[in-house]
Amino acid sequence: MSVLLPRRGAVLALTVMITSLVLGTAAQQPPEASIALTVDASRPGAKIDRNLFGQFAEHLGKGIYEGVWVGPDSPIPNTRGIRNDVVAALKALKVPNVRWPGGCFADEYHWRKGIGPPASRPATLNPDWGGVIEPNTFGTHEFMDFVDQIGSEAYLSVNVGSGTPQEAAEWLEYLTSAKPTALAKERAANGRAEPYRIAYLGLGNENWDCGGNMSAEHYLQQMKTFSRYSRNFNPAQQKEGAQMLKIAVGPGGDGPRWTHWTETIMRAWKTRTWSWDMHGLSLHNYTVVRFPASYKSVGFDEADYALLLSETLKMDGLIRHHGAIMDAYDPQKRVALVVDEWGAWYAPLPGSTPGFLAQQNSIRDGLIAALNINIFARHAERVRMANIAQMINVLQAMILTDGAKMILTPTYHVFRMYVPFQDATFVPVTYDAGRYTHGAITLPRVDAIAAKDASGTVWLSLTNLDPTRPAQIATSLVGVSASSASGETLTAPAIDSVNTFEAPATVAPRPVSAQVQGGRLTLTLAPKSVTVLSLRP
Ligand code: AHR
Repeated sequence: MSVLLPRRGAVLALTVMITSLVLGTAAQQPPEASIALTVDASRPGAKIDRNLFGQFAEHLGKGIYEGVWVGPDSPIPNTRGIRNDVVAALKALKVPNVRWPGGCFADEYHWRKGIGPPASRPATLNPDWGGVIEPNTFGTHEFMDFVDQIGSEAYLSVNVGSGTPQEAAEWLEYLTSAKPTALAKERAANGRAEPYRIAYLGLGNENWDCGGNMSAEHYLQQMKTFSRYSRNFNPAQQKEGAQMLKIAVGPGGDGPRWTHWTETIMRAWKTRTWSWDMHGLSLHNYTVVRFPASYKSVGFDEADYALLLSETLKMDGLIRHHGAIMDAYDPQKRVALVVDEWGAWYAPLPGSTPGFLAQQNSIRDGLIAALNINIFARHAERVRMANIAQMINVLQAMILTDGAKMILTPTYHVFRMYVPFQDATFVPVTYDAGRYTHGAITLPRVDAIAAKDASGTVWLSLTNLDPTRPAQIATSLVGVSASSASGETLTAPAIDSVNTFEAPATVAPRPVSAQVQGGRLTLTLAPKSVTVLSLRP
């Protein structure tokens, strides 16, 4: 893969001028030296897998109940119990896959409690997340309906921590068998005659912690057994390229413990036999600084702004560290590194139930989203799937709801602006990133990626981390001719600006466009902004 780091002194090879754009408060700021950027479309890299834009929806707080499920009798407009406003918003994101039912919840979930007539499903507990009652009204069929309504794929996590290989095997048979077994007939009696398609299967979740406190060696043995017996029987998924992909639990950091974990699993994969396999290794990494999460999601100062951005950039080092271990056992990169939990984790909102992990979502979160996606894209040969935590009302969410009301977060807007990057081809960008310094923290001032989509259009994403200074960008294009650029930019009045139910569009994208003039493309990025442009001939 072409991993290009920002470099100093990039030379302009071809100059294309776009009229200078001054966005937001940029006009009031002092002029700055421009940042030279070269986009080289003549050297295409790896595919930026659409699965990098995956989501995670756990039975946690208001993530499922209220966020997705309101029930068929709710006054909130819904289709078979799933709220219509949320479905419409998610469809615009082209969500490639949804990881469910957890998280820690997955290793305590017993699927049989979530099928059959809703009135006869048992009430159970959700001990990890607030100790609330889990009504099991949102179960297997409801999840598959949700995934279908938003046009996505299912990424199921089976219960390795407190379940059995038999329970997982039977869930898969129930879901996927086309033959009239007792389980397939039960599925049909519950309303679904056709087998479901299960694209991805998680073999446990954080089994080094909430998933059973296992050693790497113990988990490895469990994982191999679950991999052996969790079969997908859907005839349409027996064909080459259509098979269900299995994802093993991977590391949760980069110290010696995690090095050992990755080594243990990858060494075993290298010498696997015909009877088990894994296609991905997960990595979990939150932007949290330390647990318990204590940084505020709104009402923070510049010191916390800079700290959390610097924390999020550690994702790159983690991927490099574990990617290098994987390379030693899998130089052809057949096993994907799957970052299936990432995002900012802040202190619970005052007045909320602590176990519900409710937090606000500011323009800083929009930047955090862009910076992580950019990191994944630069490692696209190895990182082929990622799932932000979490989809609705939990942690770094796309959507917040309050009863019938719904708002879109800055993170949502970034995911929507990045849709053209799904399955596009990575295009190298070289640049002098400049610096943004606050106190002891120095960060790159600008972050950028580019990609070419299937139609040949080149897309450029530019993030200005500096919260007060605009960034002048001068872009040189190689291998692409452009006469104009247009797209959207996301910025906000303050570093902690958020959308609320009273003011839902404080942080919302605005269109930007420019003409090419004199063969040179220049652009001014607003402070604390994310801009996505397409280059048009
Ligand atoms: O996303 C919240 C929790 O964080 C998940 O349940 C768990 O896997 C992780 O520790």
